[in-house]
Amino acid sequence: MDREEAEKICEAAKTGDIANLKALIKDGADVSYFDKEGVTPLMHAAKHGHSEVVKILLEAGAPWNALSPQNLSAGDFAMDSGHQEVFDILLNAGCHIDEKLKLARWIQAELILGTIARKENSKGDLNGDYLEDRISFSEDKLMESNSKAVMMAWEKPLMEAHAKAICSGGGHILNIGFGMGLVDTAIQQYAPVSHTIVEAHPEVYKRMLQTGWGEKDNVKIIFGRWQDVLPQLESYDGIFFDTYGEYYEDLREFHQHLPALLNPGGIYSFFNGLCGGNAFFHVVYCQLVSLELENLGYSTLLIPLPVKNCLGEVWEGVKHKYWQLDTYYLPVCQVTEDSSDS
Ligand SMILES: C[S@@+](CC[C@H](N)C(=O)[O-])C[C@H]1O[C@@H](n2cnc3c(N)ncnc32)[C@H](O)[C@@H]1O
Repeated sequence: MDREEAEKICEAAKTGDIANLKALIKDGADVSYFDKEGVTPLMHAAKHGHSEVVKILLEAGAPWNALSPQNLSAGDFAMDSGHQEVFDILLNAGCHIDEKLKLARWIQAELILGTIARKENSKGDLNGDYLEDRISFSEDKLMESNSKAVMMAWEKPLMEAHAKAICSGGGHILNIGFGMGLVDTAIQQYAPVSHTIVEAHPEVYKRMLQTGWGEKDNVKIIFGRWQDVLPQLESYDGIFFDTYGEYYEDLREFHQHLPALLNPGGIYSFFNGLCGGNAFFHVVYCQLVSLELENLGYSTLLIPLPVKNCLGEVWEGVKHKYWQLDTYYLPVCQVTEDSSDS
């Protein structure tokens, strides 16, 4: 099919011409065609709110996660134009929420997004490399030697909100990943009975000791990768997880240990930065993590916090702007109330 022919499918998608669209698909038109602006038929349909067209294209195999040159997916086009019905159809395509095949399809979607996350990371470092790299501390950020930010001060209000959530029941608290110590400083305000911190980077650990964290009565520092120090951990009333340079697979692996680590009635939260550069993929990811935790017997509440005003000029001199969205969804996870009966 030549270019002119292929453009016709974009036109049909744009105008919502279902009869023409079906005929073109029947004749073998390429549903994943990118027009000269780099926009697919699905993106055109999403932008114009043609929900039937969106369904037909998805059924014909149009990729829901293709990206325009501006890094926007069809879901972003729907979101930006306020087409809720189309957005929901695309979200379901992304998460494949279908009772029969829910899990298998979910894993498939996760793998697709996992590849994206890997690509993001492959520009930087694997956890192993990061842990051996030199890092630098300044007042407002912790950076790797290649100018990639490990942690930044704009996250302080978010870290305070995480601390508040996991400390709401008091007791014994666990934090994985010290970074700039923002969440740990906030946790200390709640005077927990015990406060365990796991940190793997030697320089971060050294700085923790230099700044007196080793002398606090209720603080226990465990130096090492959480994967390696699991046998030293006990069970806790509040847990926060925020590592750097790890993949979604690591977060999922950590979740497998939650039943042993989190006391009944305890609260778990994690830094929810998955796909933080793309609004639609981020929503898909939020759904996936919630589903994954649900399968483990936890319910997840995602509390929206506006972050637009915190960002300002923070990305100057920083590679890989890991967060570019206006809202942060703070996860609060607890054992699902009826999971003990099921
Ligand atoms: C983004 S920072 C955490 C920021 C922290 N929440 C705060 O409030 O400042 C991530 C931290 O996790 C540590 N880290 C990375 N991988 C880890 C692992 N496998 N086990 C333990 N700590 C790890 C990093 O060295 C870094 O200090």
